[in-house]
Amino acid sequence: MNPQEQINDLIEKINYHNQLYYMSSTSEISDYEFDQLLEQLQALEAQYPSLVRDDSPTHRVGGTVAKGFESVTHRFPMLSLGNTYNAQELLDFDQRVQKGLEGQTYEYICELKFDGVALSVWYNNGVMVRGVTRGDGVRGDDITANVKTIRTLPLRVDATGMPLEFEIRGEGFLPLSSFEAINKEREDIGEPLLANPRNAASGTFKMQDSAVVAKRKLDFYVYQFLSETAVFATHEESLLWLQSAGFNVSATWKKCTSMNDVLNFIEKWEQKRHALPLNTDGIVIKINSFSQREQLGFTAKSPRWAIAYKYKAESATTVLESISYQVGRTGNVTPVANLTPVLLAGTVVKRASVHNANEMARLDLHLGDTVFVEKGGEIIPKITGVDTSKRTPDCLPVVFPSVCPECATPLVRKEGEANHYCPNEKGCPPQIMGKIEHFIQRKAMNIENIGSETIDLFYHKGLVQSPADLYVLQKEDLQGLEGFKEKSIQNILNGIEKSKEIPFKQVLFAIGIRFVGATVAEKLTNHFLTIEALQQASYDELIQVPEIGERIAQSILAFFADEANVRLVERLKAAGLQFVHTPTEILVEGNALEGKTFVISGVFRHFGRDDLKLKIEANGGKVLSGVSKKLNYLLAGAEAGPSKLEKAEKLGVKVISEEDFLSLLAINE
Ligand code: IVH
Repeated sequence: MNPQEQINDLIEKINYHNQLYYMSSTSEISDYEFDQLLEQLQALEAQYPSLVRDDSPTHRVGGTVAKGFESVTHRFPMLSLGNTYNAQELLDFDQRVQKGLEGQTYEYICELKFDGVALSVWYNNGVMVRGVTRGDGVRGDDITANVKTIRTLPLRVDATGMPLEFEIRGEGFLPLSSFEAINKEREDIGEPLLANPRNAASGTFKMQDSAVVAKRKLDFYVYQFLSETAVFATHEESLLWLQSAGFNVSATWKKCTSMNDVLNFIEKWEQKRHALPLNTDGIVIKINSFSQREQLGFTAKSPRWAIAYKYKAESATTVLESISYQVGRTGNVTPVANLTPVLLAGTVVKRASVHNANEMARLDLHLGDTVFVEKGGEIIPKITGVDTSKRTPDCLPVVFPSVCPECATPLVRKEGEANHYCPNEKGCPPQIMGKIEHFIQRKAMNIENIGSETIDLFYHKGLVQSPADLYVLQKEDLQGLEGFKEKSIQNILNGIEKSKEIPFKQVLFAIGIRFVGATVAEKLTNHFLTIEALQQASYDELIQVPEIGERIAQSILAFFADEANVRLVERLKAAGLQFVHTPTEILVEGNALEGKTFVISGVFRHFGRDDLKLKIEANGGKVLSGVSKKLNYLLAGAEAGPSKLEKAEKLGVKVISEEDFLSLLAINE
């Protein structure tokens, strides 16, 4: 095969597996094998840049770093929709449609109104050539490299019967689960949290480095097909084609033949929409027939053939009882409002976030105020306003403290930042406890049987002031503590002992260098191999490591310039923690599982999931990520995914327990 044929062959294979994985949630090869294919392709493309295809799946993992975005004129302006807020306004819209269509019968398609970022994606001969933001509706930014990282958006489609050029539009979004994972990671490394999934998605689409975008796992729902020459007679036909061509069309749409149907659709989704993977703030009602759309036309801003219906923002009024100030691991001080409990969107709300001092001043909060709380896109409800008519003279204004509520150190606010923080890193109790909690968490030292309450107790009893103190704890220290029985003491000590085996990358994450999250820690350990090498690395050496930029490099230097941190590392080393990277060797134990494929789901008694994977691979088996007909075993532990179990049953795949697995190993030995 010549290089172009090799490239074509690899692309075909990768697309096949991608399609299986993202569209049918199954896989025939392991993640490792998949990455190998992608790496081979990347290597070939690096060698022959002129042979890189526009639809190459390597665009999915990013790699281009943009310097600003080119502004592009939309071929068809991207309009917005009129809004309605109640049934009457919707019926008025229907009346206007009826009048405009002069007695013809008509149908609507109802869809959910997805709360993300509107994007337009152009295809030429079936190949994706451009991804553009809405911008001002007339011109948008060309963010093609970032759009190509969206796995559910095909880079090439079978466009038989399609015009040479067509365009699809829809909503780019960050799934709620990805949003939460990103914020968890940001919290871990002391970065400010992203406000809500929509802002996070819009910020991500505007990032310069598409490799970072690729990691954020953006997704996309298509809701429109556009071309110069008409292809479909109805919106329904276009949605069905988009779906069959491999686009991600949310299955929530419905054809409605009466306003009654429409109102039922609205009612049906009012609660159910909360189970979707993204936020939605209403529904969109569109005329199905394209010729009827043409008859109805547009106003200056929006089509006359479609309208949005907005669900009421779920809000409630309650009383602001007090404000507490939480001090995080990195010293950030966050005001939290304590409210008289109130029912909001199905849950009782007692607390709401106020974000920072600016927000507090903007709201002009007074204690005892009657406030409006809303659950918008955010996970935690927030105060959106004050009913000042209910304010009495004894309601005193809330003032942001000038000293740390925990240790009385004067707070600082960095130039240009909205947050206050307590600089007493080494003496402020919640910061110290926060660091210990960070240290023991699952992604770090994974010390079981200790929770935040135990840390609190150990700290206040003077037993543990630093993560290193955990390793000198003795049985006698814990005996006599209220609620600690012989067995739980032993469990805690065992958990601490076991953590000494945790690999270096997790130890490095655990010691809590600012901006060094789990992924960065792994990059660093792979590169430097030992803590000594990392400690001695210069700024220039640090920024040579892939993905380590100025900010992280400075933070690492500052960390090791501090004597207390060096001492911490020395003590942990003396305690026997892993500070050397040992590349994982592929162990071979035997071939008992030769040719057998497994999907692992749930929690197990004898093994961690990673251990199970290693065990299977060491015995010649393979671990896949999704259940398919070809799969041999679904290895199910406690709390195994119900959808996986159901699918296995449907496809006749054997479901085995941990014990079955062990006997499988033993029988075939
Ligand atoms: S159709 C002519 N369908 O809502 C307008 N829009 O205010 C065609 N949106 O910018 C838009 N979900 O970002 C349409 N199912 C859906 C939608 C949807 C969300 C957004 C879109 C647009 C805004 C219009």
